Amino acid sequence: MKIAMVGSGYVGLVSGACFADFGHDVVCIDKDQSKVDRLRDGIMPIYEPGLDALVDSNVKAGRLSFTTDLAEGIRGASAIFIAVGTPSRRGDGHADLSFVYAVAQEVGESLSGDAVVVTKSTVPVGTGDEVERIIAETGCQHRVAVVSNPEFLREGAAIGDFKRPDRIVIGAEDDFGREVMREVYRPLFLNEAPILFTGRRSSELIKYAANAFLATKITFINEMADLCEKVGANVQDVSRGIGMDNRIGPKFLHAGPGYGGSCFPKDTLALLKTAEDYDSPVRIVEAVAKVNESRKRAMGRKVIESLGGVEAARGKKAALLGLTFKPNTDDMRDSPAIAIAQALTDAGVNVAAYDPEGMELAKPLMPKVVMCDDPYAAIEGADAVAIVTEWDAFRALDLDRVKELANAPVIVDLRNIYRPDDMRAKGFTYTSIGRP
Ligand code: UDX
Repeated sequence: MKIAMVGSGYVGLVSGACFADFGHDVVCIDKDQSKVDRLRDGIMPIYEPGLDALVDSNVKAGRLSFTTDLAEGIRGASAIFIAVGTPSRRGDGHADLSFVYAVAQEVGESLSGDAVVVTKSTVPVGTGDEVERIIAETGCQHRVAVVSNPEFLREGAAIGDFKRPDRIVIGAEDDFGREVMREVYRPLFLNEAPILFTGRRSSELIKYAANAFLATKITFINEMADLCEKVGANVQDVSRGIGMDNRIGPKFLHAGPGYGGSCFPKDTLALLKTAEDYDSPVRIVEAVAKVNESRKRAMGRKVIESLGGVEAARGKKAALLGLTFKPNTDDMRDSPAIAIAQALTDAGVNVAAYDPEGMELAKPLMPKVVMCDDPYAAIEGADAVAIVTEWDAFRALDLDRVKELANAPVIVDLRNIYRPDDMRAKGFTYTSIGRP
């Protein structure tokens, strides 16, 4: 089966490479000539474990190629995926669908045969209807079914998530759409991955509802962590205790500095906009988005407290370990580290930072922060060391060296990677999230 993937960003590239690995003939299309050139040279535009090898082997097997020419790329494709960006629109938080609609227009104008057009990008309810209308208005004479097939990939674990999904959601309005999608995902059907067929609007909403629910779970446990600090309880025990209830489940209950990334912040806002448009408020999600935003800056204040408070902190040095919104990615989008660094530099604190993959993208976002080549260079002379992202490298820090290099043995562990007892035994002044 030939598949065209329009948009070779995170979602498009991972999905395209995985479909090729299933044995399909995949063309990834992108407008950005230099990105396409680099992909042809085997250079990935993003950091994702295992992706370069997957792309390389499928390119060599002749199943995966890259082009900037949409008309050429979609020729003969049974399924054309739209996987372009849907950023938050400046000013109102709505998802900006201009890229999706531009692709729909071009696809309608260039189609050379019957095809299923699949929205893979995260798009608000009703986008499929609009894509259908745009394609029809181009005068396209071929049979076209527009299908919604949201992705649930986590950065850093995207290939595994794609190949062993909890579920595949397909929102289709007719048999043609369902049949082609069955063929697209045949290897996963054979592996008995659960596939849920729904209407198109339900499928579109499932993506937002899932992300909003997960964001709610995280925010809930973050507020419980704050309460734990006040009442002398331990949030990890609370997480474990509630998570053992099958109805709640143990995942996404790690308290931390607040969620970031390319999905949760943007998708919760877009869901709120949809709810507003349809006059059906989702107040829980409203609260989640607000609480999470203020939490990030509050984490900066937590570091300032560990430096002795606002007055004492001025002119002192803080080291930030980890800048990306989570480990195993170079993604800085909406990372809590941005707000934390801002709060610190606003308070006159000198900030040095290290991140295994994120520093290049972080630099322009935090111009006053000194980027260091390794964690120890950041720690040297620091009055407090804050662990912001739980990279494995920070679990393996040489703590004796940390103590030697730092100006004061103060650690603020915003990801709870160390045990309070161990750290105190080693002579650190140690604070973490929601633990006595
Ligand atoms: C998320 C969804 O998981 C995925 O299904 C969707 O397709 C895209 O959005 P991603 O943004 O890659 O994926 O990261 P995820 O691992 O879900 O983490 C999101 C944020 O929540 C991170 O900032 C992470 O640190 C935070 N988080 C996650 C917590 O603070 N606590 C948790 O228990 C889990």
